[in-house]
Amino acid sequence: MSKKTVLVSGGAGFIGSHVTVELSQAGYDVVIADNFSNCDMTCYDGVCQILGFKPALVEMDFCDKAAVADLFERYPIDAVIHFAAYKAVGESVADPLKYYRNNLASFVNLLEVAREKGCNVLFSSSATVYGEADSLPVTEQSPRKSATSPYGNTKQMCEDILRDSVAAYPSLKGIALRYFNPIGAHPSALIGELPRGVPNNLVPFITQTAIGKRECLSIFGNDYPTPDGTCLRDYIDIVDLARAHVCAVRRMLDGEMEEPYEIYNIGTGRPLSVLELVTTFEKVNNLKLNYKYAPRRDGDVVAIWADPSLALTKLGWKAERSTEETLASAWAWEKRLAEAAKMTE
Ligand code: UFG
Repeated sequence: MSKKTVLVSGGAGFIGSHVTVELSQAGYDVVIADNFSNCDMTCYDGVCQILGFKPALVEMDFCDKAAVADLFERYPIDAVIHFAAYKAVGESVADPLKYYRNNLASFVNLLEVAREKGCNVLFSSSATVYGEADSLPVTEQSPRKSATSPYGNTKQMCEDILRDSVAAYPSLKGIALRYFNPIGAHPSALIGELPRGVPNNLVPFITQTAIGKRECLSIFGNDYPTPDGTCLRDYIDIVDLARAHVCAVRRMLDGEMEEPYEIYNIGTGRPLSVLELVTTFEKVNNLKLNYKYAPRRDGDVVAIWADPSLALTKLGWKAERSTEETLASAWAWEKRLAEAAKMTE
């Protein structure tokens, strides 16, 4: 049987590059499409090194409908995973129209073409759609709460656009994966998270503090109603997360979907506090991190973690790497970046 081709939009970024590796290793042909608005060639180069060959790479913007149509003419695309989107919460509050235009227009363009081609679509959604949940852990049936940022709103709106499109067009099926907090790096340390400027997310801030790029980590809030007063999250290893995409793509392409639109939580099911994450990082990497407590950050929920049992039942997927392994991989990646920077000095 000939290999199936999967288009990965935003495939040069943090999650997209790990998904490209796992899909390729599972026997799929991958076409990466990226406009490099929020990444450079670092992860693509790392992907090529890991795989020993260069997956097809197209530099393009999904807001350009003609370019999307042209891409589908050039490659025999069987399924699409859509990552291409802006993702900075604070920036989305400051410039919402930028987020609505980019994140919604690109997705609508993609769906229009995918529908014509009868090609199924996997959308990268987020646990952010659950907001401050009424009961924990959250299942896929837990109610969505109104988004606290335009970024979060685009995730909800894209889910709805996919749901409505799938209901209307029999040629289209879709899966939304709701990611909890993706962290870590590939065990090769050849690909990982590469935030531009000051990191917003916890783990890149931790690793940059440990390497000396940042002076001190601020833990946002230690007076939350949690066991140690810091927020609880479900940190999911990036390679585990990438493997969930392989399972979901297989389900779409092997005709195993039971509903035309399916949603899965992709998390570990284990809540971890910010403080626990910091101390685990210190312990596993045998170092001391400079940190202090700071006021709560606007928009943070107190606690969120997944019930990932549906993904196990239907996708045959569950998280496997330990938090220790994941945090060791994040540190190995940061050290490798530092070595690479030294060599170019
Ligand atoms: N945190 C700190 N200090 C930091 C950074 C984060 O204490 O320097 C804390 C946060 O307050 C939060 C936890 O670490 O309690 C995790 O924060 P992240 O920013 O890493 O992740 P979030 O849970 O805020 O983010 C998740 C997704 C994002 C998404 C966001 C939307 O990982 O991709 O929800 O609200 F944008």
